[in-house]
Amino acid sequence: MRTSSDPHPATSRPTNAGDRVVVVGGGLVGRVTAWRAAQRGLSVTLVEPDPVDEPRRARASSVVAAGMLTPATEAAFGEERLVELGVRSAGLYADFVAELEEASGVSVGHRATGTLLVAFDRDDLAVLDDLHGLQRRIGVTGERLTSRECRRLEPMLAPSVRGGLLAPDDHSVDPRLLLRALAAAGARAGVAEVGDRVEEVDRSTGDARLGVRLAGGDVLPADQVVLAAGCWSERIALPEPVVPHLRPVKGQLLRMRPPAGEPPIVSRTVRGLVRGFPVYFVPREDGEVIVGATQEELGYDTALTAGGLWQVLRDARELVPGVTELEITETCVGLRPGSPDNEPLLGPTRIPGVHLAGGHYRHGVLLTPVTGEVMGEVLADGTLPEYARPFAADREPGGDHTSTWEKQWN
Ligand code: GLY
Repeated sequence: MRTSSDPHPATSRPTNAGDRVVVVGGGLVGRVTAWRAAQRGLSVTLVEPDPVDEPRRARASSVVAAGMLTPATEAAFGEERLVELGVRSAGLYADFVAELEEASGVSVGHRATGTLLVAFDRDDLAVLDDLHGLQRRIGVTGERLTSRECRRLEPMLAPSVRGGLLAPDDHSVDPRLLLRALAAAGARAGVAEVGDRVEEVDRSTGDARLGVRLAGGDVLPADQVVLAAGCWSERIALPEPVVPHLRPVKGQLLRMRPPAGEPPIVSRTVRGLVRGFPVYFVPREDGEVIVGATQEELGYDTALTAGGLWQVLRDARELVPGVTELEITETCVGLRPGSPDNEPLLGPTRIPGVHLAGGHYRHGVLLTPVTGEVMGEVLADGTLPEYARPFAADREPGGDHTSTWEKQWN
């Protein structure tokens, strides 16, 4: 419910808001923000040290991510509000892709094939049944399947698979193509790009409200700044500490391909639970499949480890034994940016003009369209949409995060 102390009143544009926007970070979140802001008539500069076609593969989660758009099969107890945001973003995806492909001339590999979630043993199946109950309660579609029905859909699954859940609305996209498309669409909409690293954002320089100091020494004047550099947003010097700790959560995964002439090993995204460990296969149109991923809390460590890859392959082989026949084409390590409550942080901070778009954790690709919508409105109109208020960047821990779904349940 709104109160008189509401930091995001529904109608006002901040009196000092201006047109010069600097977006810090050239991942999906930064680029969708820049594109949407430029479409709204703002003058946007995006600062990113890595060229879009040569990002550092050992860190940029937008480049490492498999590209699952799976709010139903990634739903978790206690994260109902986040699922609601994910479902909203998934619902935007088809139109978002059509608009982006048109604006950029780049096809983004959107595959509307649904997702099959399978269980390896009886305990894993019990978890799936609990998830199915949660899906029904929150109104997302999931159909419980027997082992035989799972194998009819995906014949390469091991006969020992216990059963599954089909989520017909959980799709996938190729994040590398999405990134390229957003860069092209942004450039066409007028986004300027600076290849450098941001060290500091400080209060006013000259006629601007803010100054963005780059590693190379230049200072970019800005009326509004969006910090969208993943975990690295917390390393940028600010007049006040307004960025919560964004812990890096390491993910290791493999990209693989069947031998020439062989069919893809799965035809849709297959997620699985193997003795409690999650594993996934995300196929691309050309037969490549992304198999992942570990989830490791080791700070900024980006070492590719035998143990990490072994864990992924061990569990992948239990579900799809044929995975061992595939050729490994690439191994990747990325750092997911996890906020303190694992939910994204969107919109204004306590520093006038400084915004945050971060903490997307495991859901950056899924949440790209909705993040663009939210940040476009924040930057152009000075308002945080009602549905995004639970994810306000300046939220207090334990504040009113009650979602409409929670209200319905009570
Ligand atoms: N969303 C998949 C992952 O973070 O591994």
